[in-house]
Amino acid sequence: MRSIPSTWLHTKQVGRQIAYFEEIDSTNLEAKRNQERVDGHGMVFLAEQQNQGRGRMGRNWVSPKGTGVWMSILLKPEFPTTQASQVTLIAALAVADAIKKVAGLEGMIKWPNDIVVNRKKVCGILTEMGVIEDKIQYLVVGIGINVNTEEFPEEIRATATSLKIEGDKVIERECLVAEILNSFELYYEHFCTDGDLSRLTKYYNSILINKGKKVKIVGNLKEDSFIGEAIGIDELGRLLVRLEDGTIEIIVSGEVSVRGLYGYV
Ligand code: BTN
Repeated sequence: MRSIPSTWLHTKQVGRQIAYFEEIDSTNLEAKRNQERVDGHGMVFLAEQQNQGRGRMGRNWVSPKGTGVWMSILLKPEFPTTQASQVTLIAALAVADAIKKVAGLEGMIKWPNDIVVNRKKVCGILTEMGVIEDKIQYLVVGIGINVNTEEFPEEIRATATSLKIEGDKVIERECLVAEILNSFELYYEHFCTDGDLSRLTKYYNSILINKGKKVKIVGNLKEDSFIGEAIGIDELGRLLVRLEDGTIEIIVSGEVSVRGLYGYV
C-alpha cells in the first residue's frame, strides 16, 4: 500500500503516525507489542498481508496480500473499561461512512460490528484491550475490509464479499483508510465528550441491518439462547431485543453472537 498523503487526513491525532508492513502476523498483535513505547494516541498499523489475522471468538481472519485493508488503531483512552466495547461500534460507523464515500455502496451494520453490503460481510472489527488495576492501558481497534478481493475460500464464500465484487470497480485502499480515520476521530471525540453514544445512536440504528428483524441471540450456554425482534441499540451500544411476551432483553456485546433466522443476517 502507498503511504497515505497527510493532506487526506483531517485528524488531529488519529493516523498522524502510521507504521506500514509488507507482511506481518497480525496488526492487532503488532499494535499490542508496541503499545508501551508509543505514548501518543491514534497510531495506526497497516499491513499488505497478515499471516495470522485474528477474528472475533478465536476465529481466523483471511488476509491475503494486496487486496484488503488490514489495520489497527492504537488508543490510550481515559474512560473506564465498561465503555471499551462501544468503540467498536464507532469504528463500524466510520467504516460505513468510508464505504459510502469512496465506493458509493450502502454498508449496513450487523450488530455489533460487522459491515455488510448486499447482505454479505465486507468488514469485521476486533477490539482488544489491556487493563492494569482496572484501568485501560491501551485499546486496539482492528479493522479488516475485503476491498479488491475477487474470490473467497469455500468456507466463507456464502457469507463474505468485497467492495470490488459488489461495486464492480477497483477501490483505492489508501482513500478508504483516510476516510475511516477522519470519521473515526470525529465520532471518537463525540463519544469521549459525551461519555456514551447518544449523538451516534440514531445514525447507527438507521443503518442497523438487524433492526425490526427476528434474531437469534446465541449465548455461551445453549439454554441462554433465545429468539426475539431486534429494536435497535441504546446510548450504551447495547442491543434491545423484544421477546414474544413483549419484554425487552438488553444484550451486551462480547457475550453473545447474533444471527438472522434464515442465514447470516
Ligand atoms: C471479525 O469479524 O471476526 C473481526 C475481524 C478483524 C480483522 C482485523 S484485520 C486487522 C486486525 N488484525 C487482526 O489480526 N485482526 C483485525
